Amino acid sequence: MKALLVTRPMPALPFIDAIRSRAPAIELLEYRSPLTDAELADVDTVLGWQMPQELPSRLPRLRWVCSVAAGVEKLLAPDLAPAVRVSRIVDREQAAGMAQFVVAMALRHARDLDRYDAQQRERVWLRQPTPMARHRVAVLGTGATGGEIAAWLERCGLVVRGWNRRSPEGLHALLAASELVVCALPLTSETEGILDAAAFAAMPRGAYVINVARGAHVVEADLIAAVRSGHLRGAALDVQRREPLPADDPLWTVPGIVITPHIAAQPSTETIADQFVASAHALERGEPLPNEIDRARGY
Ligand code: OXD
Repeated sequence: MKALLVTRPMPALPFIDAIRSRAPAIELLEYRSPLTDAELADVDTVLGWQMPQELPSRLPRLRWVCSVAAGVEKLLAPDLAPAVRVSRIVDREQAAGMAQFVVAMALRHARDLDRYDAQQRERVWLRQPTPMARHRVAVLGTGATGGEIAAWLERCGLVVRGWNRRSPEGLHALLAASELVVCALPLTSETEGILDAAAFAAMPRGAYVINVARGAHVVEADLIAAVRSGHLRGAALDVQRREPLPADDPLWTVPGIVITPHIAAQPSTETIADQFVASAHALERGEPLPNEIDRARGY
């Protein structure tokens, strides 16, 4: 089997070392341009984060694409042949890391800790205790990550309801009953822009949004307007539509919006290598491909 690594912006070398030590028979080629058609002609699989433009049409033997992440949307290029199978990494450690991040952001908001940052800057020692947080939380996305986030938030005493596209409850009805909204959805044509002006208007005044999924779930101009108007208290955005977020982006300077650079949690190189090698062997033996996504649904 020959694998092409398109892991940018992550360096390919750690993946090459980790896969080579587990499966020396897999031939590994790092994507860099220019690669000749002859070098690409016998590539069976791509391991990567984002598919370079027009690469699939240069890979006549491609039969499997494996994401180095939980999300796959950047690999589903329009010229990826329908027969090519796509799988993702499902990493319990990553899901737990996401949940830790969400708990940190949720409790920071729910326990009003920003207030004490501001007080410390002014050297003000003033007790304004907050009660134990019992906020109602909507967790959008009930997969491996959403499920873990919901469990951790519940353990913290918050009142959690999960939502996915098959939920009988309408999204806006759930948002109307949620002081905190966490986005852990896959990015598909149905979920792009799902957190828009109408969604923010449905949330109660003072609600708070945490996005650990993809920047494109949020219509950022609508979020900025909802926070600036005072309808929303704020948001924690670990992901943004443009990554890296340019220095002149308006999101940086909205009071109440916290920006982090897509660091909530990633799968480890070791887990990726373990799962990639196990899947490669499964594919070669004609067994079911672990963590295969449904190409029609996009996750
Ligand atoms: C992922 C990510 O999808 O890290 O796994 O964003």
